[in-house]
Amino acid sequence: MRARDTDWDGVRLHVVTGKGGTGKTTVAAALALALAAGGDKVLLVEVEGRQGISQVFDLPPLPYEERKIAVAPDGGDVYALAIDPEEAMLEYLEMFYGMRRAGRALTKIGIIDFATTIAPGFRDVLVTGKTSEAVRRKGKDGRRVYDAVVLDAPPTGRIVRFLNVTNEVAGLARVGPIKNHADLVNGVVSSPETAVHFVTLLEEMPVQETLDGLAELRAAGLPPGGIFINMVRESLLPDSVLEAAAESRFDPAELALGLKAAGLTDGGSAAVTVAEALTEEITEHARRTELERDERLALEGAARPRYELPLLADGVDLSGLYELAESIRTQGAA
Ligand SMILES: Nc1ncnc2c1ncn2[C@@H]1O[C@H](COP(=O)(O)OP(=O)(O)O)[C@@H](O)[C@H]1O
Ligand SMILES: [Mg+2]
Repeated sequence: MRARDTDWDGVRLHVVTGKGGTGKTTVAAALALALAAGGDKVLLVEVEGRQGISQVFDLPPLPYEERKIAVAPDGGDVYALAIDPEEAMLEYLEMFYGMRRAGRALTKIGIIDFATTIAPGFRDVLVTGKTSEAVRRKGKDGRRVYDAVVLDAPPTGRIVRFLNVTNEVAGLARVGPIKNHADLVNGVVSSPETAVHFVTLLEEMPVQETLDGLAELRAAGLPPGGIFINMVRESLLPDSVLEAAAESRFDPAELALGLKAAGLTDGGSAAVTVAEALTEEITEHARRTELERDERLALEGAARPRYELPLLADGVDLSGLYELAESIRTQGAA
Protein backbone atom coordinates (compact mmCIF):
# COMPACT_ATOMS: atom_id res chain seq x y z
CA MET A 1 0.00 0.00 0.00
CA ARG A 2 1.37 3.43 -0.91
CA ALA A 3 2.00 6.02 1.77
CA ARG A 4 -1.09 8.14 2.14
CA ASP A 5 -2.31 11.30 3.64
CA THR A 6 -5.99 11.30 2.82
CA ASP A 7 -9.22 11.78 4.70
CA TRP A 8 -9.77 8.01 4.67
CA ASP A 9 -6.44 6.46 5.57
CA GLY A 10 -7.13 3.12 7.19
CA VAL A 11 -10.46 2.64 5.44
CA ARG A 12 -10.52 -0.53 3.38
CA LEU A 13 -14.16 -0.72 2.43
CA HIS A 14 -15.67 2.34 0.76
CA VAL A 15 -19.42 1.91 0.43
CA VAL A 16 -20.93 4.36 -2.06
CA THR A 17 -24.63 5.08 -1.79
CA GLY A 18 -26.90 7.92 -2.90
CA LYS A 19 -30.21 8.61 -4.54
CA GLY A 20 -30.52 6.78 -7.85
CA GLY A 21 -29.31 8.79 -10.82
CA THR A 22 -27.04 11.10 -8.82
CA GLY A 23 -23.95 9.33 -10.17
CA LYS A 24 -23.38 6.57 -7.62
CA THR A 25 -21.77 4.22 -10.12
CA THR A 26 -19.71 6.98 -11.71
CA VAL A 27 -18.39 8.24 -8.38
CA ALA A 28 -17.67 4.69 -7.15
CA ALA A 29 -15.65 4.05 -10.32
CA ALA A 30 -13.75 7.35 -10.05
CA LEU A 31 -13.06 6.71 -6.37
CA ALA A 32 -11.68 3.25 -7.19
CA LEU A 33 -9.31 4.81 -9.74
CA ALA A 34 -8.27 7.51 -7.28
CA LEU A 35 -7.60 4.98 -4.52
CA ALA A 36 -5.54 2.78 -6.84
CA ALA A 37 -3.49 5.70 -8.14
CA GLY A 38 0.17 5.45 -7.23
CA GLY A 39 0.37 1.68 -7.20
CA ASP A 40 -2.41 0.19 -5.10
CA LYS A 41 -4.77 -2.64 -5.94
CA VAL A 42 -8.46 -1.84 -5.63
CA LEU A 43 -11.55 -3.94 -6.19
CA LEU A 44 -14.70 -2.25 -7.45
CA VAL A 45 -17.82 -4.26 -6.65
CA GLU A 46 -21.27 -3.91 -8.14
CA VAL A 47 -24.26 -5.57 -6.58
CA GLU A 48 -27.36 -4.60 -8.44
CA GLY A 49 -26.84 -6.69 -11.53
CA ARG A 50 -27.11 -3.70 -13.86
CA GLN A 51 -23.66 -3.91 -15.43
CA GLY A 52 -23.11 -0.24 -14.59
CA ILE A 53 -19.36 -0.71 -14.11
CA SER A 54 -18.81 -2.21 -17.53
CA GLN A 55 -20.76 0.69 -19.03
CA VAL A 56 -18.76 3.33 -17.19
CA PHE A 57 -15.47 1.74 -18.28
CA ASP A 58 -16.80 1.10 -21.76
CA LEU A 59 -16.31 -2.68 -21.54
CA PRO A 60 -18.40 -5.68 -22.49
CA PRO A 61 -20.57 -7.07 -19.65
CA LEU A 62 -18.52 -8.36 -16.72
CA PRO A 63 -18.70 -12.00 -15.65
CA TYR A 64 -19.16 -12.99 -12.03
CA GLU A 65 -15.43 -13.06 -11.37
CA GLU A 66 -12.75 -10.62 -10.29
CA ARG A 67 -10.83 -9.24 -13.21
CA LYS A 68 -8.58 -6.32 -13.94
CA ILE A 69 -10.42 -3.59 -15.80
CA ALA A 70 -8.28 -0.45 -15.57
CA VAL A 71 -4.87 0.96 -14.81
CA ALA A 72 -4.83 3.95 -12.49
CA PRO A 73 -2.72 7.11 -12.86
CA ASP A 74 0.93 6.52 -11.79
CA GLY A 75 0.39 2.76 -11.73
CA GLY A 76 -2.10 0.81 -9.65
CA ASP A 77 -4.83 -1.54 -10.76
CA VAL A 78 -8.58 -1.52 -10.57
CA TYR A 79 -10.26 -4.90 -10.53
CA ALA A 80 -14.00 -5.31 -10.86
CA LEU A 81 -16.56 -7.81 -9.70
CA ALA A 82 -20.19 -7.74 -10.75
CA ILE A 83 -21.97 -9.85 -8.19
CA ASP A 84 -24.91 -11.72 -9.55
CA PRO A 85 -27.10 -12.63 -6.56
CA GLU A 86 -28.20 -15.87 -8.15
CA GLU A 87 -24.62 -16.95 -8.88
CA ALA A 88 -23.68 -15.96 -5.34
CA MET A 89 -26.41 -18.24 -4.07
CA LEU A 90 -25.15 -21.15 -6.18
CA GLU A 91 -21.63 -20.54 -4.97
CA TYR A 92 -22.92 -20.56 -1.44
CA LEU A 93 -24.74 -23.84 -1.90
CA GLU A 94 -21.63 -25.40 -3.37
CA MET A 95 -19.32 -24.06 -0.69
CA PHE A 96 -21.36 -25.26 2.20
CA TYR A 97 -23.38 -28.14 0.92
CA GLY A 98 -21.48 -29.32 -2.16
CA MET A 99 -24.70 -28.95 -4.10
CA ARG A 100 -23.95 -26.71 -7.03
CA ARG A 101 -25.50 -29.19 -9.44
CA ALA A 102 -28.58 -29.43 -7.32
CA GLY A 103 -28.46 -25.66 -7.15
CA ARG A 104 -28.68 -25.44 -10.93
CA ALA A 105 -31.72 -27.69 -10.86
CA LEU A 106 -33.24 -25.54 -8.16
CA THR A 107 -32.64 -22.53 -10.38
CA LYS A 108 -34.51 -24.18 -13.20
CA ILE A 109 -37.55 -24.72 -11.11
CA GLY A 110 -37.29 -21.24 -9.70
CA ILE A 111 -36.38 -22.04 -6.12
CA ILE A 112 -33.33 -19.79 -6.17
CA ASP A 113 -35.37 -16.94 -7.57
CA PHE A 114 -37.89 -17.65 -4.92
CA ALA A 115 -35.33 -17.65 -2.12
CA THR A 116 -33.56 -14.50 -3.24
CA THR A 117 -36.82 -12.67 -3.79
CA ILE A 118 -38.66 -13.83 -0.74
CA ALA A 119 -35.77 -13.24 1.64
CA PRO A 120 -33.88 -10.16 0.52
CA GLY A 121 -31.92 -10.33 3.75
CA PHE A 122 -30.54 -13.64 2.57
CA ARG A 123 -29.57 -12.25 -0.81
CA ASP A 124 -27.95 -9.23 0.81
CA VAL A 125 -25.86 -11.30 3.18
CA LEU A 126 -24.49 -13.30 0.26
CA VAL A 127 -23.53 -10.11 -1.53
CA THR A 128 -22.10 -8.26 1.46
CA GLY A 129 -20.45 -11.50 2.58
CA LYS A 130 -18.68 -11.80 -0.75
CA THR A 131 -17.56 -8.17 -0.48
CA SER A 132 -16.38 -8.51 3.12
CA GLU A 133 -14.44 -11.64 2.22
CA ALA A 134 -12.61 -9.64 -0.48
CA VAL A 135 -11.85 -6.89 2.05
CA ARG A 136 -10.32 -9.35 4.53
CA ARG A 137 -8.72 -11.73 2.03
CA LYS A 138 -5.00 -12.31 2.47
CA GLY A 139 -2.44 -13.56 -0.02
CA LYS A 140 0.28 -16.13 0.63
CA ASP A 141 2.51 -13.35 1.91
CA GLY A 142 -0.02 -12.74 4.67
CA ARG A 143 -0.92 -9.30 3.34
CA ARG A 144 -4.30 -8.13 2.20
CA VAL A 145 -4.89 -8.89 -1.47
CA TYR A 146 -6.72 -5.59 -2.02
CA ASP A 147 -5.61 -2.29 -0.54
CA ALA A 148 -9.19 -1.12 -0.79
CA VAL A 149 -12.61 -2.29 -1.94
CA VAL A 150 -15.21 0.13 -3.32
CA LEU A 151 -18.81 -1.01 -3.28
CA ASP A 152 -21.33 0.52 -5.68
CA ALA A 153 -24.10 -0.07 -3.18
CA PRO A 154 -27.91 0.07 -3.26
CA PRO A 155 -29.51 3.53 -3.06
CA THR A 156 -29.85 5.56 0.13
CA GLY A 157 -33.29 4.28 1.00
CA ARG A 158 -32.05 0.70 1.28
CA ILE A 159 -28.48 1.12 2.47
CA VAL A 160 -28.92 0.55 6.19
CA ARG A 161 -30.97 -2.61 5.75
CA PHE A 162 -28.45 -3.79 3.19
CA LEU A 163 -25.50 -3.36 5.55
CA ASN A 164 -27.27 -4.34 8.72
CA VAL A 165 -27.39 -7.99 7.75
CA THR A 166 -27.06 -9.31 11.24
CA ASN A 167 -30.50 -8.02 12.08
CA GLU A 168 -31.90 -9.06 8.75
CA VAL A 169 -30.82 -12.67 8.96
CA ALA A 170 -31.37 -13.09 12.69
CA GLY A 171 -34.68 -14.75 11.98
CA LEU A 172 -33.24 -16.86 9.17
CA ALA A 173 -30.17 -18.30 10.78
CA ARG A 174 -28.96 -18.45 14.33
CA VAL A 175 -26.08 -20.82 13.60
CA GLY A 176 -24.38 -22.21 10.52
CA PRO A 177 -22.72 -20.70 7.46
CA ILE A 178 -25.24 -17.90 6.94
CA LYS A 179 -24.73 -16.78 10.50
CA ASN A 180 -20.94 -16.90 9.98
CA HIS A 181 -21.34 -14.83 6.83
CA ALA A 182 -23.41 -12.30 8.73
CA ASP A 183 -20.82 -12.14 11.52
CA LEU A 184 -18.04 -11.52 8.99
CA VAL A 185 -20.06 -8.73 7.35
CA ASN A 186 -20.89 -7.20 10.67
CA GLY A 187 -17.25 -7.31 11.72
CA VAL A 188 -16.24 -5.41 8.61
CA VAL A 189 -19.03 -2.87 8.16
CA SER A 190 -19.30 -1.74 11.74
CA SER A 191 -15.54 -1.26 12.06
CA PRO A 192 -13.36 1.79 11.35
CA GLU A 193 -12.11 0.07 8.20
CA THR A 194 -15.44 0.92 6.56
CA ALA A 195 -16.86 4.28 5.47
CA VAL A 196 -20.27 4.83 3.89
CA HIS A 197 -20.10 7.71 1.40
CA PHE A 198 -23.07 9.58 -0.04
CA VAL A 199 -23.41 10.92 -3.56
CA THR A 200 -25.75 13.85 -4.00
CA LEU A 201 -26.63 16.69 -6.30
CA LEU A 202 -27.28 20.23 -5.13
CA GLU A 203 -31.01 19.60 -5.27
CA GLU A 204 -33.58 19.34 -2.56
CA MET A 205 -34.53 15.65 -2.81
CA PRO A 206 -31.08 14.05 -2.96
CA VAL A 207 -29.78 16.39 -0.26
CA GLN A 208 -32.67 15.47 2.03
CA GLU A 209 -32.05 11.78 1.33
CA THR A 210 -28.39 12.26 2.18
CA LEU A 211 -29.19 13.90 5.51
CA ASP A 212 -31.79 11.25 6.36
CA GLY A 213 -29.41 8.49 5.30
CA LEU A 214 -26.64 9.86 7.50
CA ALA A 215 -28.97 9.99 10.49
CA GLU A 216 -30.16 6.46 9.84
CA LEU A 217 -26.59 5.27 9.52
CA ARG A 218 -25.59 6.82 12.82
CA ALA A 219 -28.61 5.30 14.55
CA ALA A 220 -27.57 1.87 13.24
CA GLY A 221 -24.00 2.34 14.44
CA LEU A 222 -22.57 2.21 10.92
CA PRO A 223 -19.56 4.42 10.04
CA PRO A 224 -20.47 7.53 8.00
CA GLY A 225 -18.06 8.62 5.27
CA GLY A 226 -17.95 11.72 3.12
CA ILE A 227 -20.42 13.55 0.91
CA PHE A 228 -19.66 13.65 -2.80
CA ILE A 229 -21.52 16.53 -4.39
CA ASN A 230 -21.73 15.53 -8.01
CA MET A 231 -22.45 17.42 -11.24
CA VAL A 232 -21.56 20.81 -9.79
CA ARG A 233 -21.96 23.62 -12.32
CA GLU A 234 -19.48 26.42 -12.40
CA SER A 235 -20.94 29.73 -11.43
CA LEU A 236 -20.57 31.92 -14.48
CA LEU A 237 -21.32 35.31 -13.00
CA PRO A 238 -20.07 37.42 -10.12
CA ASP A 239 -22.07 37.30 -6.88
CA SER A 240 -23.26 40.90 -7.19
CA VAL A 241 -24.87 40.19 -10.57
CA LEU A 242 -26.42 36.96 -9.30
CA GLU A 243 -27.88 38.69 -6.27
CA ALA A 244 -29.41 41.45 -8.35
CA ALA A 245 -30.83 38.94 -10.83
CA ALA A 246 -32.27 36.69 -8.12
CA GLU A 247 -34.09 39.70 -6.70
CA SER A 248 -35.22 40.76 -10.18
CA ARG A 249 -33.18 43.95 -9.90
CA PHE A 250 -31.39 43.17 -13.10
CA ASP A 251 -32.06 45.81 -15.74
CA PRO A 252 -32.39 44.63 -19.37
CA ALA A 253 -32.02 48.22 -20.64
CA GLU A 254 -28.66 48.51 -18.95
CA LEU A 255 -27.63 45.16 -20.40
CA ALA A 256 -28.66 46.34 -23.89
CA LEU A 257 -26.38 49.34 -23.50
CA GLY A 258 -23.58 47.11 -22.28
CA LEU A 259 -24.00 44.78 -25.25
CA LYS A 260 -23.82 47.76 -27.59
CA ALA A 261 -20.75 49.17 -25.85
CA ALA A 262 -19.04 45.80 -26.21
CA GLY A 263 -19.85 45.83 -29.91
CA LEU A 264 -22.01 42.72 -29.60
CA THR A 265 -25.14 44.37 -30.97
CA ASP A 266 -25.87 47.53 -32.88
CA GLY A 267 -28.16 48.88 -30.17
CA GLY A 268 -31.38 48.68 -32.25
CA SER A 269 -34.61 46.93 -31.25
CA ALA A 270 -32.99 43.52 -31.81
CA ALA A 271 -30.54 44.45 -29.07
CA VAL A 272 -33.41 44.94 -26.65
CA THR A 273 -34.83 41.50 -27.52
CA VAL A 274 -31.43 39.92 -27.00
CA ALA A 275 -31.01 41.75 -23.70
CA GLU A 276 -34.43 40.63 -22.51
CA ALA A 277 -33.78 37.00 -23.40
CA LEU A 278 -30.40 37.14 -21.68
CA THR A 279 -31.92 38.72 -18.60
CA GLU A 280 -34.37 35.86 -18.35
CA GLU A 281 -31.57 33.34 -18.59
CA ILE A 282 -29.46 35.18 -16.05
CA THR A 283 -32.37 35.40 -13.64
CA GLU A 284 -33.01 31.66 -14.02
CA HIS A 285 -29.32 30.91 -13.48
CA ALA A 286 -29.28 33.20 -10.44
CA ARG A 287 -32.31 31.53 -8.87
CA ARG A 288 -30.77 28.11 -9.35
CA THR A 289 -27.48 29.27 -7.90
CA GLU A 290 -29.36 30.58 -4.89
CA LEU A 291 -31.13 27.23 -4.37
CA GLU A 292 -27.81 25.45 -4.73
CA ARG A 293 -26.34 27.68 -2.06
CA ASP A 294 -29.14 26.68 0.32
CA GLU A 295 -28.51 22.99 -0.40
CA ARG A 296 -24.78 23.47 0.18
CA LEU A 297 -25.54 25.04 3.55
CA ALA A 298 -27.82 22.15 4.48
CA LEU A 299 -25.02 19.70 3.63
CA GLU A 300 -22.51 21.70 5.67
CA GLY A 301 -24.82 21.11 8.63
CA ALA A 302 -24.09 17.39 8.40
CA ALA A 303 -20.48 18.10 9.39
CA ARG A 304 -18.98 15.43 7.14
CA PRO A 305 -16.08 15.88 4.71
CA ARG A 306 -17.42 17.20 1.41
CA TYR A 307 -16.05 16.89 -2.10
CA GLU A 308 -17.35 18.62 -5.21
CA LEU A 309 -17.18 16.99 -8.60
CA PRO A 310 -17.78 19.02 -11.75
CA LEU A 311 -20.59 18.44 -14.19
CA LEU A 312 -18.75 17.17 -17.26
CA ALA A 313 -20.21 18.94 -20.26
CA ASP A 314 -19.71 16.00 -22.62
CA GLY A 315 -20.95 13.37 -20.18
CA VAL A 316 -18.70 10.77 -18.57
CA ASP A 317 -16.43 8.98 -21.01
CA LEU A 318 -13.25 7.23 -19.92
CA SER A 319 -11.17 10.41 -19.88
CA GLY A 320 -13.94 12.14 -17.91
CA LEU A 321 -13.75 9.34 -15.37
CA TYR A 322 -10.01 9.91 -14.91
CA GLU A 323 -10.71 13.62 -14.59
CA LEU A 324 -13.16 12.94 -11.74
CA ALA A 325 -10.62 10.59 -10.14
CA GLU A 326 -8.00 13.34 -10.26
CA SER A 327 -10.43 15.76 -8.65
CA ILE A 328 -11.13 13.22 -5.89
CA ARG A 329 -7.38 12.91 -5.23
CA THR A 330 -6.75 16.64 -5.24
CA GLN A 331 -9.48 17.13 -2.67
CA GLY A 332 -7.92 14.55 -0.38
CA ALA A 333 -10.62 11.90 -0.55
CA ALA A 334 -8.09 9.38 -1.88
N1 LIG B 1 -20.00 14.53 -12.99
C1 LIG B 1 -20.79 14.17 -14.01
N2 LIG B 1 -20.87 14.97 -15.12
C2 LIG B 1 -21.67 14.60 -16.15
N3 LIG B 1 -22.45 13.51 -16.18
C3 LIG B 1 -22.42 12.69 -15.10
C4 LIG B 1 -21.59 12.98 -13.97
N4 LIG B 1 -21.79 11.98 -13.07
C5 LIG B 1 -22.66 11.12 -13.61
N5 LIG B 1 -23.05 11.53 -14.83
C6 LIG B 1 -24.01 10.86 -15.73
O1 LIG B 1 -25.25 10.74 -15.06
C7 LIG B 1 -25.88 9.50 -15.38
C8 LIG B 1 -26.16 8.72 -14.10
O2 LIG B 1 -24.90 8.33 -13.52
P1 LIG B 1 -24.73 6.92 -12.80
O3 LIG B 1 -23.35 6.91 -12.26
O4 LIG B 1 -25.13 5.81 -13.68
O5 LIG B 1 -25.77 7.13 -11.63
P2 LIG B 1 -26.39 6.09 -10.58
O6 LIG B 1 -25.43 4.95 -10.46
O7 LIG B 1 -26.52 6.89 -9.33
O8 LIG B 1 -27.71 5.70 -11.13
C9 LIG B 1 -24.94 8.79 -16.32
O9 LIG B 1 -25.35 9.03 -17.63
C10 LIG B 1 -23.60 9.43 -16.06
O10 LIG B 1 -22.74 9.39 -17.18
MG1 LIG C 1 -25.66 2.89 -10.78
